[in-house]
This record gives sequence, C-alpha cells and structure tokens, in this order.
Amino acid sequence: MTNNLTWHSHTVTPQQRSQLKGHGSALVWFTGLSGSGKSTLANALERRLLDLKVHSFLLDGDNVRLGLNGDLGFGDEDRVENIRRIGEVGKLFVASGTLCLSAFISPFREDRDRVRAVLAPGQFIEVFVDAPLAVCEQRDPKGLYRRARAGEIAHFTGIDSDYEAPERPEIHIRSDQLDTGEAVEKIIAYLRRHGVLR
Ligand code: PPS
Repeated sequence: MTNNLTWHSHTVTPQQRSQLKGHGSALVWFTGLSGSGKSTLANALERRLLDLKVHSFLLDGDNVRLGLNGDLGFGDEDRVENIRRIGEVGKLFVASGTLCLSAFISPFREDRDRVRAVLAPGQFIEVFVDAPLAVCEQRDPKGLYRRARAGEIAHFTGIDSDYEAPERPEIHIRSDQLDTGEAVEKIIAYLRRHGVLR
C-alpha cells in the first residue's frame, strides 16, 4: 500500500507553527471506560485552554465515529483501526502546532502505545480517567450499560470486552474522587511543568 510514495518535507516546521501560536503542541490522550468522564473532562479542559488563549482541538469518540470512522464497529479489529486512525489525525494536529485532545475508550494498551510511538517523546500525554466499573455503570449516562447487560449490545467495554488500564499514565485522574475543575487544574499544572504551556 505504501509503494511508490515519497515523504515531502516542508519548509515551514512544526516548531515554527508552535512559535506562532505561543505554546507547545502535544496530544493529550484521555482513556477510560464509557461513563468514566473522558468527554466531560476533555470538554472542560478545552474551555479552560480557550480562556488561556491556547489553540486546541478535541477529537471525541462518538463524533469521530459518526464521520471519519463511520465504517468501524466495536469488534477488536475495528477498535484497533479506530485508534490507529485517530493517532494519525492527532499527529497531524500536533504537527500543526495545536494542542490536540482526544477522548476515546482506547481499551487496548498496545494501541495506545502505538500512538505514543508515532509522536516525538513528550508529545503523547496519556490521561487515565479512572472510575470503577460499578460507578460508570451506576452513572450510565447513555443507558448503554443497561442495554449491554440486557444483551442488546455486544462487545461492550467492561462487560464482554476488555479494558486494559494504563500502567504508567502521565496523569492519573480518579474521576470518582476529584471534581472536574480540580482535574482540569491538575492537567494544566502538568502542561505548565512540562513546558507545553508557558
Ligand atoms: S474505542 O473502544 O476506543 O474504539 O471506542 P470509542 O471510539 O471511544 O467509542 C466509544 C463510544 O461508543 C459508544 N459505544 C460503545 N462503547 C463501548 N463498547 C461498545 N460496544 C459500544 N457501542 C457504542 C459509547 O457511546 C462510547 O462513548 P463513551 O463516551 O465512552 O461513553
């Protein structure tokens, strides 16, 4: 598939694009069970970044699956491809100098590590949005756990499809213990400490 192709180097570099914006670029990768609070937290972070005049863009699970990845389902193979494509899109956003946020269950460790590997060291920031399955199931904001338990949805993460928790995430958020505002500030502090935000 990649025969007869040549990578083009451009004269404007990612560093120059970043300089123009006045902040660094990275891919902040939220991972966690359905209902753990990934989208809520990523949304709140994006709002906070806007207030700080940081150019960000949020790639969000359901939205990407309604467009770019509309051909993919929830079997293992399709989830692998889902994450691969999102990783490539995230990489483009990072090259554009943007602080890219992504909120996908991304249940498999190997897939997340593959995304990490396509980025430069320090540019992949894994945020584990950690809430026990029982809490997520109790929240059940979209009624999906109830339907999965009733056998109406196959391969539901945490029920009959695995979730492999990160072993060494850059940031660990216990979303059942921290409120959204505190979690946002924890991420902002990390981004400042690591020079992504000045
Ligand atoms: S994955 O595993 O990363 O490919 O999933 P993702 O692209 O993040 O999509 C998760 C959202 O899809 C809805 N949904 C399901 N989730 C898990 N398992 C099954 N079988 C499933 N079917 C539909 C659900 O709304 C997920 O959104 P969140 O925001 O995580 O609840």
